[in-house]
Amino acid sequence: MKNLYNALMLKKLLSLKELGFNYVEPVQEFKDDNISLPNDLNSLYQIVLNCHLCELSKTRQNVVFGEGNVNADIMFVGEGPGASEDAQGRPFVGRAGELLTKMIENVLYIPRSQVYIANIVKCRPPQNRTPLPKEALTCRPYLFKQIELIKPRLIVALGSTAYRYLTDDTTPISRVRGHIIQKENYKIIPTYHPSYLLRNPSAKKEAYADMLKVKSFL
Ligand code: URA
Repeated sequence: MKNLYNALMLKKLLSLKELGFNYVEPVQEFKDDNISLPNDLNSLYQIVLNCHLCELSKTRQNVVFGEGNVNADIMFVGEGPGASEDAQGRPFVGRAGELLTKMIENVLYIPRSQVYIANIVKCRPPQNRTPLPKEALTCRPYLFKQIELIKPRLIVALGSTAYRYLTDDTTPISRVRGHIIQKENYKIIPTYHPSYLLRNPSAKKEAYADMLKVKSFL
């Protein structure tokens, strides 16, 4: 929450500056628990649609909030929207999305619409670069709120960026993949990102094994 807190504080101070203030007494109204996000997904969606807390908002075409079953047992979390996702405002709709859909439908045997899919950042990083830590940390409270509201039994972290920001652990994905990890409020299983699998098809067998683990967990 610290980054969202800082960004909101900065925004408030900038608007006060525009109004002519040079100095204000320390503002009490933005205590961490005072910037709580709404407890329903539609209101949260409206906030994210209008978010301008980081640079990614300047270059996005669409916010990619996430989609799927709001009562899902399983949630997939990727890194951030690519070009197709940015154009359509939906997660995982490009080539990596096609592979993810196959992993869900052909290994777990459930329709894609039955799971929930979201990303660490909701706006496309230019040239598909990895989100900067400040972008990921500013956006992360939205994802944590989605998780809190959807309450999935298991979260599949797709790739190292998703794993890193869901756990604050920087262990390489190749070492942690396939392990179910208990976090304070949720369980998470990391696996390879579908884009990585498209570039490294030999890793598909490990991702397949991870998905079988997800299936047996469910
Ligand atoms: N890669 C991601 O991490 N997320 C998407 O939504 C699409 C591609």
